[in-house]
Amino acid sequence: MDNVVCAWNTPDHRAQLTNTPRSFGGFSFASYPRTVPQDFSKYVASTSASNSRRSVVLHGTQGSGKTGLGVCALSTFARQGVGSLFQWNVLTAERTTPVEKDEQVFPSPCWFERWSSILARNRKTDWDEVGWFESLDDVTVLMLDDVGVETGTPYREALLLRHLEWAEDDDRRMLILTLNDPPSKWPKVVGERVADRMIEQRRFLAVHVPGESLR
Ligand SMILES: Nc1ncnc2c1ncn2[C@@H]1O[C@H](COP(=O)(O)OP(=O)(O)OP(=O)(O)O)[C@@H](O)[C@H]1O
Ligand SMILES: [Mg+2]
Repeated sequence: MDNVVCAWNTPDHRAQLTNTPRSFGGFSFASYPRTVPQDFSKYVASTSASNSRRSVVLHGTQGSGKTGLGVCALSTFARQGVGSLFQWNVLTAERTTPVEKDEQVFPSPCWFERWSSILARNRKTDWDEVGWFESLDDVTVLMLDDVGVETGTPYREALLLRHLEWAEDDDRRMLILTLNDPPSKWPKVVGERVADRMIEQRRFLAVHVPGESLR
């Protein structure tokens, strides 16, 4: 029973459950106004089938399309059903009760978060860090958008490092990170320990998203 794909667990339904902001909802690789960086296309095509996944970091000037491209990859992986089949079956199951206002939403196996939202939650006194990482147990692809914002304190660097370690703990897990700064500035922006891992090619593919702002 564990490997049965339930009727409601469809590619479209999974793609709707990635927590991607509504404004990126209609984006696809085909709608990207420039040529998708070749190394990124190859990476997305080869990653989905693989069981040992490498993380990726998209960097480039403001507005060049990093979030848009990352979201397209996330949606591709969700459509392919990357992650726990059991979890996708549970999350796509038809609900019998409406969603409550403050109901806790469990992350799906392919999940989007703005780094600034995580930091905002983290600032609250009732932030449950253990609970957050427990909820990531069922996640395989985690996109952390704009990890270059609001960094610079040892605590935040340590929190980002814990997310990198979360990915390292299981070969199947991967992160999609975005930030504006080029690799030479990463030590300053995200801290030396995080930057050191992000430039290690075995762990991360670094993709430059070229061009001026598309906005
Ligand atoms: N896949 C896509 N399809 C269509 N348009 C896109 C796509 N990706 C990006 N764009 C266009 O490019 C604009 C900028 O994209 P995006 O927000 O991804 O840039 P960014 O590099 O993440 O910017 P920032 O550095 O401010 O975070 C979008 O508002 C949209 O108009
Ligand atoms: Mg962005």
